[in-house]
Order: sequence, then C-alpha cells, then structure tokens
Amino acid sequence: MKKRNNILLLLAALFFFIVSFSLAHALNETHLDRSKLPLGCVSCHKNHGTSSTVMLERPKNQLCFKCHGNVKTGAPGEASTDIYSVLLKQSNHPIIQTTQYHYRGESLPERSTTTTRHAACFDCHNPHLLTSSNPLNGAKGYSGRGLQINKAQYEYQVCYKCHSDSANLPSSASDIASKFEAGNAAFHPVETVGKNNNVPSLVASLSTVSIITCSDCHNNDDISGAKGPHGSNYDYILSENYTMDTGAESPYAYELCYKCHRRSSLLNDDSFQAHKKHIVYENASCFACHDAHGTLNYANLINFDTTIVTPNSLGELNYLKVVAGKPRCFLTCHISSQTYEHKITGGLYCINSNCPPGW
Ligand code: HEC
Ligand code: HEC
Ligand code: HEC
Ligand code: HEC
Ligand code: HEC
Ligand code: HEC
Ligand code: HEC
Repeated sequence: MKKRNNILLLLAALFFFIVSFSLAHALNETHLDRSKLPLGCVSCHKNHGTSSTVMLERPKNQLCFKCHGNVKTGAPGEASTDIYSVLLKQSNHPIIQTTQYHYRGESLPERSTTTTRHAACFDCHNPHLLTSSNPLNGAKGYSGRGLQINKAQYEYQVCYKCHSDSANLPSSASDIASKFEAGNAAFHPVETVGKNNNVPSLVASLSTVSIITCSDCHNNDDISGAKGPHGSNYDYILSENYTMDTGAESPYAYELCYKCHRRSSLLNDDSFQAHKKHIVYENASCFACHDAHGTLNYANLINFDTTIVTPNSLGELNYLKVVAGKPRCFLTCHISSQTYEHKITGGLYCINSNCPPGW
C-alpha cells in the first residue's frame, strides 16, 4: 500500500511538472507550447526511447529533423522551417556529420587535442528553453577567456564555446575571441562598441555606438529561408558575397560590407582618401587591407593580406594613423601584376604617380 502511494505521488509530481511546464510557459518556450507542439514532451521523448539518449524518440542526429527537415508531412507540431536543406549548402556547420560526438553534460571549449570537433543542434539551442524572440535562450556559453557561462546572454558567448581557445581547433581556424578583445586596436562592435567615432560610411540604421552580432555576417544567404548560421552558399557561412581576391569592384563583389557601409561613401573617399584609387583602379579587395573581425595592433581594422603585401625595400611593413584620411603605410604591394612601394624616405609616404592631393 505504502509503495503504491509513493508511485502515485511520483506520478502526480511528474504530471504536475509537465502540466505546469506546458501551462506556465505556454507563451514563451516554443517547444513547451502546446499550441505549437500539441503532443508536448512526447514529441521528443518516449518511454525507453533510443538507447544511449535521454529517452529520445529518435537518435540524436535525427530528432530535430523530424520537424525541421526537408520533407514536410503535415504531422502535428511540424515546424515551418527547414534546417536540413540549409545544412546541405556548400559552407555549413557540420551538424549532420558530427552530432554523434556531442554528449549530454560535455564541457566546452574542448580541452583535449584528440577529441573530434563537432557541432550539434543542442550545442547552440536549449530544446526546452528556446523562444521565438531568442532561439539561443538557455544555451550554455563561454567568455572566450576562461569563464564558463551557464546561460549565455549574448550570441557570441555561444560561438566562443568552439571558436576561441578550443584545444582541437583545426589548423586553418583562429581564436575568434582574441580578435574581439576590448583592448585591441580595432574590432567590429560585437562584444562592445567600436573604437572609431568617425565611420561616415555607416548606413542610416547603424551608428558608432551600434552593436552587431556574429550572425549579422554569418547567416543563411537565402533571406527568405531559415535564419541562423547553419549554412550558406557563400564561403565561411557568410550571409552575402565577399570577394577576397583581387578583382573588379561591383556592388556584388563586396556585398557583405556594403550591407552596412554605403558603397557611395567609400568610393567617394569620405574617410580614407585613397579608397577609390585602391578599390576601383587597383582592383584591391577590402581583404587586402582589412580584417573582418578585429586587429591587435593596427587601427581601422587594418590587417594586410600577406599574399600581396610584403615589407618594402627598407624592410619596413607598418601602418600608422597620423592625419585622419591620410594614413602612412610602409610596404610593398604586388597587385594586378604591378608592384607599388610606400617608403618613409624623403618624407614621402606615397610615391605612386596619382597620389591623393597633399600627400
Ligand atoms: C523539441 C524536443 C524536446 C521536447 C519537446 C522536450 N525535450 Fe527534453 N530533451 C530534449 C533533448 C534533445 C534533450 C537532450 C539534450 C542534450 O543531449 O544536450 C532533452 C533532455 C531532457 C532531460 C534530461 C535533462 C536535461 O535537461 O538535459 C529531461 C529530464 C527532459 N528532457 C524532460 C523533458 C520534459 C519533461 C519535457 C516536456 C515538458 C521535454 N523534455 C520536452 C528534447 C526535447
Ligand atoms: C552554431 C550554432 C547553431 C547550431 C549548431 C544550430 N543553430 Fe539553429 N540557430 C542559431 C542561431 C544563432 C539562430 C538565430 C539567428 C537569429 O535569428 O538571430 C538559429 C535559429 C534557428 C531557428 C529559427 C529559424 C528562423 O528562421 O526563425 C531554427 C528553427 C533552428 N535554428 C533550428 C536548428 C536545428 C534544428 C539545428 C540542428 C540541425 C540547429 N538549429 C543548429 C545557431 C545554431
Ligand atoms: C515535434 C516537432 C518539433 C521537433 C521534434 C523540434 N522542433 Fe523546433 N520547432 C517546432 C515548431 C512547431 C516551432 C515553431 C516555429 C516553426 O514553425 O518553425 C519550432 C521552432 C524552433 C526554433 C525557433 C524558435 C521559434 O519559436 O521560432 C528553434 C531554434 C528550434 N525549433 C530548434 C529545434 C531543435 C534544436 C530541435 C531538436 C532538439 C527541435 N527544434 C525539434 C517543432 C519541433
Ligand atoms: C559546438 C561547437 C560549435 C559552436 C557552439 C559553434 N560552432 Fe561554428 N563551427 C563548428 C565546427 C566544428 C565547424 C567546422 C569547421 C571547424 O572545425 O572549425 C564550424 C564552422 C564555422 C564557420 C565556418 C568556418 C570555415 O572555415 O568555413 C563559421 C563562420 C562558424 N562556425 C561560425 C559560428 C558562429 C557564428 C557560432 C555562434 C552562433 C558558432 N559558429 C558556434 C563548431 C561550432
Ligand atoms: C562584419 C562581419 C563579420 C562579423 C561580425 C563576424 N564575422 Fe566571422 N568572418 C567574416 C568574414 C568576412 C570571414 C572570412 C574572411 C576571414 O577569415 O577574415 C569570417 C570568417 C570566420 C571564421 C572562419 C575563419 C577563422 O578565422 O576561423 C569563423 C570561425 C568566424 N568568422 C566566426 C565568427 C564569430 C564566432 C563571430 C562573432 C564572435 C564572427 N565571426 C563575426 C565576417 C564577420
Ligand atoms: C588599400 C587599403 C584599403 C582597402 C583596399 C580598403 N580600405 Fe577601407 N580603409 C583603409 C584605411 C587606411 C582606412 C582608415 C582611414 C583613416 O581613417 O585614416 C579605411 C577605413 C575604412 C572604413 C572606416 C571609415 C568609413 O569610411 O566609414 C570602412 C568602413 C572601410 N574602410 C571599409 C572598406 C571596404 C568595405 C573596403 C572594400 C570595398 C575597403 N575599406 C577597402 C584602407 C583600405
Ligand atoms: C552588420 C553590419 C556591418 C557589416 C556587415 C560590416 N560592418 Fe564594418 N562596421 C560596422 C559598424 C557598426 C562599425 C562602427 C564601429 C566603430 O564605431 O568603431 C563598423 C566599422 C568598420 C570599420 C572601422 C573600424 C575602425 O576601428 O576604424 C571598418 C574598417 C569596417 N567596418 C570595415 C568593414 C568591412 C571590410 C566589411 C566587410 C567585410 C564590414 N565592415 C562589414 C558594421 C558592419
């Protein structure tokens, strides 16, 4: 009798837990909202469930695609978004391939060089707590500098779990958090506002006190498709095209940058007085001079593309911001089968014919 009471009590508690979960949170947490997922918990969990999961209805690499897949059956609770097709684009988070390496309770960033690098839906989304206004709500985060965060407050904290000082970073990847440190010479304003209070090219919706997010640049290239940095037809999961090689300027070539920086302002030399000369006449990509994340030593996000920029004949390679719009560069640049040299000799900082007036 006593035992039976206990079981009843347990069942009641569980019932209460589930009901209060789905009622109290009905307006917020998407997956606990019965108007969206009429089957509630059993949409994802089943008695016994799939082995080595928390009673999940399907293996963990298939569960989310049941409703966020490319085949829509009209089953109750099915989502309108198709994440699966986005992950098949040429640049993507390798979720389909590596979800099996995720385990519940894992600690990120990885501290072992031998662990297989992975990305799973549950690394960025908390399936119980996510909401439509914040799809990352409840996900764990990392400061990028040693501090684990139980519930990430900012998107970049979720990204830093795998893109900062992970021991198993691929050799082609870098510590992204180190680029956005407040003490750096320049950075795009992701963690905090930027260092430059004169950015005349900014579009009307942005200012020098704006904050932007990783997914403002890393996102689905299809604006009518599912949002988020799942996959894109452009390299590096970029939301718009960004040509990093030398070539003709066009609205498309630097579409990513022109989303926030007015092309007309840049090519009108509103700030750097030789922007047009380099970008239009010398076919230089923004990438020849700028870093998209941040720079440790040079102001203005200057980070020369070392495949075309090398030290000059005096061995100098430097960028000095002296007078606004007329910086001093000491370097050699091999571009469009030409070689240009900027030297300090004779006080000349620009020795090309066609230098901007007064240089
Ligand atoms: C949209 C799918 C989905 C729904 C709906 C869902 N869960 Fe989960 N749940 C998951 C996944 C996925 C995990 C494992 C996460 C991981 O491996 O990191 C999980 C884990 C759990 C765990 C293990 C502890 C934890 O929090 O990780 C419990 C307990 C749990 N769910 C209970 C519930 C209850 C109760 C409900 C209904 C109120 C529910 N879940 C609804 C997907 C779901
Ligand atoms: C690398 C982190 C990351 C991973 C892994 C990830 N997502 Fe996302 N997802 C995001 C971010 C960030 C957003 C929100 C973008 C925004 O709107 O700001 C998002 C948005 C979404 C949305 C809302 C889309 C919309 O158009 O409103 C859905 C649905 C979604 N993710 C499902 C999934 C599923 C399913 C998986 C696994 C197959 C997954 N995500 C894996 C980061 C991730
Ligand atoms: C039983 C169906 C179902 C399953 C399984 C499911 N989802 Fe969802 N999900 C939905 C529905 C319905 C929405 C509401 C928006 C829509 O229709 O796309 C949604 C929305 C989302 C959103 C965006 C939040 C919002 O309100 O728009 C994210 C992120 C998301 N799901 C991630 C996941 C992840 C990660 C998994 C796997 C753990 C998962 N989903 C499994 C049905 C499901
Ligand atoms: C759980 C780990 C994990 C998290 C969290 C994560 N990523 Fe990733 N990301 C990966 C893996 C794995 C790859 C594949 C390449 C690699 O290993 O770096 C990748 C690749 C990328 C790439 C493409 C890199 C390239 O060289 O093509 C971008 C861009 C990216 N992630 C951005 C983000 C953003 C933005 C966030 C936060 C919203 C994020 N990631 C969160 C694991 C993660
Ligand atoms: C202003 C646009 C912009 C923002 C904001 C941005 N990125 Fe990037 N990201 C780029 C571009 C452009 C590239 C490719 C060129 C390059 O590597 O410099 C890139 C490359 C990457 C790569 C692959 C190369 C590498 O060094 O590993 C990763 C990973 C990445 N970004 C993650 C992030 C994360 C995480 C955030 C937020 C903390 C972020 N990005 C914010 C534009 C941006
Ligand atoms: C030859 C090197 C070089 C190239 C190529 C270049 N820039 Fe610049 N850019 C600079 C320098 C130097 C400054 C800083 C000038 C100053 O403030 O004194 C600058 C400043 C800027 C600024 C901040 C001021 C403003 O105008 O709002 C933006 C934004 C910018 N560049 C975007 C771009 C974009 C986008 C491209 C490609 C279409 C590009 N740059 C190509 C060197 C370059
Ligand atoms: C989502 C919007 C967004 C995108 C996309 C974007 N930027 Fe910016 N950028 C900003 C904002 C906001 C600032 C102002 C930060 C400040 O005041 O220092 C800025 C500032 C800059 C600066 C000046 C930084 C300094 O410290 O002088 C340069 C250079 C720059 N961006 C180059 C680029 C290039 C190159 C691209 C394309 C790869 C790009 N931006 C894409 C929003 C964006």
